[in-house]
Amino acid sequence: MKIIMLGAPGAGKGTQAKQIAGKYQIPHISTGDIFRANIKEGTPLGAKAKEYMDQGLLVPDELVVELVADRIIKEDCKDGFVLDGFPRTIPQAKALDEALSKMGEKMDYAIDVDVPDENIVNRMGGRRACLSCGATYHIVNIPTKAEGICDKCGSAVVLRDDDKPETVQKRLAVYHEQTQPLIEYYSAQGILKSVDGTRPMDDVFADIVRILGA
Ligand code: AP5
Ligand code: MG
Repeated sequence: MKIIMLGAPGAGKGTQAKQIAGKYQIPHISTGDIFRANIKEGTPLGAKAKEYMDQGLLVPDELVVELVADRIIKEDCKDGFVLDGFPRTIPQAKALDEALSKMGEKMDYAIDVDVPDENIVNRMGGRRACLSCGATYHIVNIPTKAEGICDKCGSAVVLRDDDKPETVQKRLAVYHEQTQPLIEYYSAQGILKSVDGTRPMDDVFADIVRILGA
């Protein structure tokens, strides 16, 4: 099962993708997480990506496409994968289609997690992320058991650099301009499904399971 998660920054793509990956036993591939891991490790890719991420801009397509194309040919992707945060532009979507068609394959579902902009800013300000294991929380909706400490690995949880309100506004504008056109792109391919991302997390997941089949 090959799935794309679409949706604005903070819509809950990562939250749902992790659950899908767990239930269907397929890898969760988040380009944002890959970049953050590279930033943390101080790699040249991380340094380049950080310049764009901190401004709320997209990392250039050429830095992302190869990364994903190399990842989805790995052995653990043979039964499928869930892409979170990729593709984000029409050229990325076309490159993905090309990479898959070389393998005689295609995407099965593009799931749009729909949340209006008004809800997003609140969510992002409350999000806390563990930079060690990638777990995400929300100070009100999904709090950590001990304040500021990751439930899973015990490291500190922090506000992401790009979750500051002014950067969130920029990310939303970039989303509407460059990523939203993908909804039409996948609708035309007949694989678009939409879920109401304003509902509680577990209800959103139940809707997704209904779409994917138990
Ligand atoms: P990325 O890491 O992908 O960030 P994003 O798309 O902006 O999305 P987020 O991770 O912020 O949100 P999410 O939808 O995963 O929401 P979450 O589940 O955490 O990318 C970061 C940057 O990297 C980009 O800006 C860009 O620069 C670069 N980049 C990455 N991929 C790229 C690409 N392909 N091309 C170019 N550049 C790229 O949920 C958000 C919060 O809400 C959490 O606190 C969560 O707990 C809470 N929450 C979730 N669901 C619910 C719910 N149903 N109800 C209440 N609260 C909820
Ligand atoms: Mg995410």
